[in-house]
Amino acid sequence: MLQNRRAREHFGRFFSQWFGYEQSLVRATVIPEDVRTKLRAESDALIERVVFDRKGPWTDIFRATESFIDADIARYYGDVSVPPEGPATWVSYGPNSERRGIIGHGAFLNAGTKFTDTSPTQRGIMVRTKLLCSPPKSIPPDLQVNLDQPPPSGSKCKLPGYKILLTQPSCAGCHAGMDPIGYGLERYDIGGKFRTTEPAGLTCPIDGKGTFLSPDGSSAPFSGPAELSDALVATGALDHCLSTRIFEYTQGRSKTGSDEESIRQTEKLVSGRSGSLLDVISAIVATPSFTLRTALPEKL
Ligand code: HEC
Repeated sequence: MLQNRRAREHFGRFFSQWFGYEQSLVRATVIPEDVRTKLRAESDALIERVVFDRKGPWTDIFRATESFIDADIARYYGDVSVPPEGPATWVSYGPNSERRGIIGHGAFLNAGTKFTDTSPTQRGIMVRTKLLCSPPKSIPPDLQVNLDQPPPSGSKCKLPGYKILLTQPSCAGCHAGMDPIGYGLERYDIGGKFRTTEPAGLTCPIDGKGTFLSPDGSSAPFSGPAELSDALVATGALDHCLSTRIFEYTQGRSKTGSDEESIRQTEKLVSGRSGSLLDVISAIVATPSFTLRTALPEKL
């Protein structure tokens, strides 16, 4: 059963919904369709490889140092070795690359975008909410700002506006826990292309330095997907969040307080036996709800 195509497709869909690109990539029409198709295939291939073929720790989804791309996508990314022309193949990022795992994929980096350029706020919310199940406090109802635009700064560059939010105590209380995660991913545009300047031009450089504020209150500087992935794995919170999302996927509803014990049971399987998800998947595919389920609850 586990090796059959249907189980693989189901779990591919589970992860693509959890990470958000199932929903976001189809809407990202600023990226050419053939590129989006290949970005999707890149992420699907990583998940299938880690979960079903390598049967290693599931957190390798965040730590993989190779990616399944063809020469077109390597050139599109701009910071990855270009493989020979032809079908996609596994390409190693090399020791000096800041890319690693799913966070270095265009499909993931596209999720959570709101404008035609990236939003550090939205990316920070995505990491906190989706990956750590630790959403930041919601927006104050009396806040009088234009949320449809990046914060203004008086400069033509985008990032200074976001940085002003951190200097104002009434804003920093929330924004300091989200935006600096996004700063550390700013060198990757809404399709995952590497860049060192904002779209406004060379006078708006991006240093790509961010800070990860962990749900336990500790903070760590980082730069790029590889260091962020290390910081996320180090929190230990990914297992609990994955278990929560699996629970919600199989039950088709958001968890309530009384579900915590079932989630812990899944978490025991997730973090046991070298972190492979196969035990968890065996338990799930044996339940009738698995065969019926097609979506995570909408709010995720
Ligand atoms: C209680 C938490 C909280 C406080 C305090 C707060 N914000 Fe926010 N802010 C948020 C959240 C959450 C979002 C994302 C909202 C969304 O996209 O639905 C957000 C989004 C924004 C955005 C849009 C940014 C983007 O890229 O999506 C701007 C601009 C903004 N806030 C400005 C401010 C300013 C200015 C202050 C201080 C006067 C402030 N905020 C205080 C939580 C907060």
